[in-house]
Amino acid sequence: MAKHATTAVGWGHHHLQKRWLLALLLMLSVSTVIVFCIRAAFDSCDRNVPSAVSAANVIGLAPNAVQVAEKRALQIAAGKPSPLSFMKSKIVLLVSHELSLSGGPLLLMDLAFLLRSVGAEVYWITIMKPSETDEVIYSLEHKMLDRGVQVVSSAKGTEAINTALRADLVVLNTAVAGKWLDAVLKEDVHHVLPKVLWWIHEMRGHYFKLDYVKHLPFVAGAMIDSHVTAEHWKNRTQERLKIKMPETYVVHLGNSKELMQVAEDSVAKRVLREHVRESLGVRNEDLLFALINSVSRGKGQDLFLRSFSEALQLIKEKKMQVPPLHAVIVGSDMSAQTKFETELRDYVMQKKIQDRVHFVNKTLTVAPYLAAIDVLVQNSQARGECFGRITIEAMAFQLPVLGTAAGGTREIVVNGTTGLLHPVGKEGVTPLAKNIVKLATHVERRLTIGKRGYERVKERFLEQHMAERIAGVLKEVLRKSKNKSSTHLD
Ligand SMILES: *[C@@H]1O[C@H](CO)[C@@H](O)[C@H](O)[C@H]1NC(C)=O
Ligand SMILES: *[C@@H]1O[C@H](CO)[C@@H](O)[C@H](O)[C@H]1NC(C)=O
Ligand SMILES: *[C@@H]1O[C@H](CO)[C@@H](O)[C@H](O)[C@H]1NC(C)=O
Ligand SMILES: *[C@@H]1O[C@H](CO)[C@@H](O)[C@H](O)[C@H]1NC(C)=O
Repeated sequence: MAKHATTAVGWGHHHLQKRWLLALLLMLSVSTVIVFCIRAAFDSCDRNVPSAVSAANVIGLAPNAVQVAEKRALQIAAGKPSPLSFMKSKIVLLVSHELSLSGGPLLLMDLAFLLRSVGAEVYWITIMKPSETDEVIYSLEHKMLDRGVQVVSSAKGTEAINTALRADLVVLNTAVAGKWLDAVLKEDVHHVLPKVLWWIHEMRGHYFKLDYVKHLPFVAGAMIDSHVTAEHWKNRTQERLKIKMPETYVVHLGNSKELMQVAEDSVAKRVLREHVRESLGVRNEDLLFALINSVSRGKGQDLFLRSFSEALQLIKEKKMQVPPLHAVIVGSDMSAQTKFETELRDYVMQKKIQDRVHFVNKTLTVAPYLAAIDVLVQNSQARGECFGRITIEAMAFQLPVLGTAAGGTREIVVNGTTGLLHPVGKEGVTPLAKNIVKLATHVERRLTIGKRGYERVKERFLEQHMAERIAGVLKEVLRKSKNKSSTHLD
């Protein structure tokens, strides 16, 4: 491994895929050596989800692997004008609530790099930073510095204020970042609001506080990950807070190039599949249904296990001829959700399905699991996912999705075509069980649904699509803020 890493820089393009493979395998076998992350997908609804879990394409390895990848990304970019090229030389300030390996900040970093790649002048402010040095923050900041993002050292103070005043565009990330406006900008806040684009990725109740969002009506625009989340924000702000949303843009997310590269490499997929299956102790012909999300009640692992157990029962009763079914729960963290995790494990013992249910600790790399499984289960409860990036990641791997008919999942999965939807709550247990059996017994259908999912991703859920959508929003916001400032001067 070490030898490969040191010779990697000289590798040509067609060797690149092997690099990813090595990187992924290394991640799997040496899970503690997580040095660099390229980017992470996420589960936009829940900022607390360790991206580790929902992250798809965090690929760790030596810096030279990152350089090779970036060089290639630049070359690809050089071939085709980016939809964001009008942002060249524009000054953009990105304000992040925190800097961590969780979904929100990593998505904002993706935006930072997209903007850097077209020559924008990009500044970054992290509002909440621990006082002691933090390894993750250190490495993420250095990753940004390496790519020409100017990291403002303090969220408060004159440098932050001046950058905000000077910027053409300020992107606030997540609702809680709203607190920064008054606390730091003070009397200058009204000069900055007309050029603020507020990117919102959450819909839980406690975000609907005037404390956070009272300036929302006065910003240039809000950008939200799904229609259903945007609708929810409109309702809640109006009904609870009596404030009006600004112009709101729905921007569905897209899969990174790195993830697509692994997903489209059949050799890489095969190796990863064998490796993961071996580590779980399942055979190649066994059928794996996986739920990949941090383990918590909101993500519905408990209900999924009940459906899974029901499905096994159905198969037994009807004496169906199917390969052994397995359930994989990726995202386990015994130290965080001890009670719920214990409940899950007790249930498995009680039903005597220990040999069919596998718990995998939360991990920075989900690509190997996507390569190894046959069906993704997206069982988020209540309002569902805001978007649910793992869903489009799974579809990139040609996996059918069994999802709850809620939240962003409904905007991603076409029921009957790229997946099968079931209701949230207890009402969904039996329908999900039947859908599990359906996919287990109809091999052709399962594969077709997976292929259609992949086609849908290629049509609308790639990084390039996301960049196009964001470009449309930024153009509009720049136009508006320019108009505002020119009328101010008049
Ligand atoms: C928003 O409110 C309208 C009217 O009260 C309702 O029909 C709609 O379902 C609500 N949408 C959401 C997402 O809550
Ligand atoms: C999973 O995490 C637990 C602690 O939460 C740890 O004890 C265990 O060794 C981990 N398992 C693996 C395979 O890393
Ligand atoms: C999904 O499709 C199935 C069969 O076509 C149907 O029975 C089910 O009600 C649909 N679910 C949703 C949420 O549309
Ligand atoms: C600019 O602002 C004025 C009034 O503030 C408005 O009438 C006009 O339509 C705006 N123009 C654009 C291009 O948004």
